[in-house]
Amino acid sequence: MGALDGKAIIVTGAAGGIGAAAALVLAAAGARLVLSDVNAASGEAAAQAVRDAGGEAVFVAADLASEEAIAALVAKTVQMYGRLDGAFNNAGVEQRNKPLDELTLDEWDLAIRIDLTAVFLCIKHQVKAMLGGGGGAIVNTASSLGQVGLAGASEYCAAKHGVIGLTRAAGADYGARGVRVNAVLPGITATPMIERLSGDPQLAATFERLKLRHSMHRFGQPSEIGDAVVWLLSDQASFVNGATIAVDGGYLSI
Ligand SMILES: NC(=O)c1ccc[n+]([C@@H]2O[C@H](COP(=O)([O-])OP(=O)(O)OC[C@H]3O[C@@H](n4cnc5c(N)ncnc54)[C@H](O)[C@@H]3O)[C@@H](O)[C@H]2O)c1
Repeated sequence: MGALDGKAIIVTGAAGGIGAAAALVLAAAGARLVLSDVNAASGEAAAQAVRDAGGEAVFVAADLASEEAIAALVAKTVQMYGRLDGAFNNAGVEQRNKPLDELTLDEWDLAIRIDLTAVFLCIKHQVKAMLGGGGGAIVNTASSLGQVGLAGASEYCAAKHGVIGLTRAAGADYGARGVRVNAVLPGITATPMIERLSGDPQLAATFERLKLRHSMHRFGQPSEIGDAVVWLLSDQASFVNGATIAVDGGYLSI
């Protein structure tokens, strides 16, 4: 028996590094998945990878900048599986690596819209479906940068700090009604997002320094984030609500 046997779960950002790897881990634990992303080609490939591994997954394209698209994603999931038991709200965009005074309002707005507002909208629509079905569990992807700062990342840090506050408050809103809301805080994890950031020659030295700030002196693998998400979405975490779980190789501990 898997920890998520039969549970209907949405994963956003499923075309990306953490989302696609988490999908494989969640499916192996027995979840029935709806994978979603704005990148349809890679999202379809992630769903196919789950099916190739013997799991259950369909892909539904959605741009999380749109509340309508988020509502439709939740509705399609309920239509498909008859219920919604869990969600991994994981889609995100990276920082621009600019000091605050060089950041444009559009760049700020994009990070806040996708990294924070979209998480609010996902929870809003997911919770309605979960309350109708007797409860559920939500995990949001925050970051180590939801608890500490980093130069060149003011918009990302602001959004991820916001995700932590949002997670705590949403857990308080719904904990007594059977919906748990928690967050994972990944440290630097080997994904396309980090390949894009560390590919900048000017940032190579920064990434070497940041690697040593992880007390395990390495970056994470995306499936290691997925392992924590499985637990948080499962009934094994039945008394965990409003929590922030660092999965960061010790980044926040030293
Ligand atoms: N990789 C890391 O080191 C790290 C560390 C801490 C937190 N995170 C967070 O983990 C999450 C996943 O990141 P990742 O490293 O896998 O990055 P990634 O770039 O590989 O994946 C992010 C995914 O989000 C999707 N996305 C972006 N904008 C979207 C939109 N408007 N609508 C729908 N989907 C959209 C992208 O298409 C992509 O598939 C993000 O929230 C990120 O901030 C990553």
